[in-house]
Amino acid sequence: MSATAHPKLAMRPFLPADVPLLAEIFRASIAELTGDDYSEAQQEAWAAAADDEKQFAAKLAKQLTLIATLNGSPVGFIALEGADKIDMLYVHPAATGQGVGAMLADAVEKIAASRGASKLSTDASDSARGFFEKRGYAARQRNTVSLRGEWLANTTMQKQLVNPKAP
Ligand SMILES: CC(C)(COP(=O)(O)OP(=O)(O)OC[C@H]1O[C@@H](n2cnc3c(N)ncnc32)[C@H](O)[C@@H]1OP(=O)(O)O)[C@@H](O)C(=O)NCCC(=O)NCCS
Repeated sequence: MSATAHPKLAMRPFLPADVPLLAEIFRASIAELTGDDYSEAQQEAWAAAADDEKQFAAKLAKQLTLIATLNGSPVGFIALEGADKIDMLYVHPAATGQGVGAMLADAVEKIAASRGASKLSTDASDSARGFFEKRGYAARQRNTVSLRGEWLANTTMQKQLVNPKAP
């Protein structure tokens, strides 16, 4: 009998050796999951953030980065910037709709709350906005950011956290 009859979803901290795979997940996620909301030129400018792998690695290492695995293979990641901001959340297009994003978001919401953060925010892409709304994040501000000559819109969204240490 196979020990992996059902895909097994798990989570672990980021390791430097994960960088090439995470860059691949980042690019594939943007290319295949954001096309309804962003033009090809915008998607390319966005995905180019992983072109300089050293810089991408440094960013992942500086933040609290968690990796989701399905049967041991990385399929998504989340990066918490500072105490209370989700900087990146990307799931591979082949692994969406299975609770990967929710598991990663749950984890950083708990970590941030246990460290005393009262809120968590993110600059959500238009493609991910519905995901965050579903989790209780409220839109605060519409932004337009310039990336390699392209203007991309996103929305700052914020969720109140329940501090488990609060009396
Ligand atoms: C947004 C994203 C992270 C969601 O990942 P995922 O693993 O497919 O999400 P989950 O399977 O955990 O979904 C959790 C719930 O949110 C819902 N959901 C997922 N994506 C959604 C979306 N774009 N809009 C509305 N609801 C969404 C799911 O249906 C699911 O609902 P359920 O609890 O009723 O079953 C993923 O689609 C992605 O990587 N998108 C492209 C990259 C991107 O824009 N990242 C954000 C940058 S800020």
